[in-house]
Amino acid sequence: MDRIVILTGAGVSAESGLGTFRDKDGLWTRYDLSEVATPEGYARNPRLVLDFYNARRANALDASPNAAHRALARLQEGFAGEVLLVTQNIDNLHERGGSREVVHMHGEITRALCASCGHRWDAPREMAPSDLCPSCTAPATRPDIVWFGEMPYHMERILPALSEADLFVAIGTSGEVYPAAGFVEISEEAGAETLEINLDPAPAPGRFDRMIAGKATEAVPAWVAELLGS
Ligand code: OAD
Repeated sequence: MDRIVILTGAGVSAESGLGTFRDKDGLWTRYDLSEVATPEGYARNPRLVLDFYNARRANALDASPNAAHRALARLQEGFAGEVLLVTQNIDNLHERGGSREVVHMHGEITRALCASCGHRWDAPREMAPSDLCPSCTAPATRPDIVWFGEMPYHMERILPALSEADLFVAIGTSGEVYPAAGFVEISEEAGAETLEINLDPAPAPGRFDRMIAGKATEAVPAWVAELLGS
């Protein structure tokens, strides 16, 4: 086995204290996603949207990486073949857990984007609707996050990797949001084995070859140790 593609979701950061989206008490049970996670919601009420992401940014920066983030970094470092780590998470806990390369398909909470000229820069801890783009000075700054109705980032990198993968692993994701939810079928059709690691023993019945049920902080280090033989 030479090539592994890993997709992580909110479940990998849950034990760092960051909320998931669809679990009981998840973010989407408390917030209306059409208000806070769409371009239309932002156009209607930028203050509400920026405040929502200011809170997400504060939580992410105050959180610490956990044993699952660190184990995945160890796998990237120690595996003899290629490991592409793709995350739907906007936090930077994979990087802070030691991963050198992380593909953030839904953007990053620590980055800002100008909706007018496309310039990107490091976001301040608190963003405000009156902030000006440091490049073109338009008052059109937004978090560099992919909202519903927008195209995920880095698909040109992810899709070829899936079609060449020997193993595809989904960790801590409900598999409800496309295109990420379709990665298992893409890799399977290309001949990869598929593995799911999730707290819930049956989040996506029948879609994966193998399932490891458990907390990410326990199941991921155990799986990495099995793969690396140490
Ligand atoms: P969800 O909230 O939909 O799913 C979280 C998954 O993590 C569930 O399947 C849980 O069973 C699992 N889980 C929870 N705690 C866990 C733990 N300690 N160990 C292992 N698994 C655990 O989150 P995502 O699938 O990441 O997109 O959501 C996908 C996308 O939907 C997000 O990136 C976000 C959201 O709307 C955008 O905002 C564009």
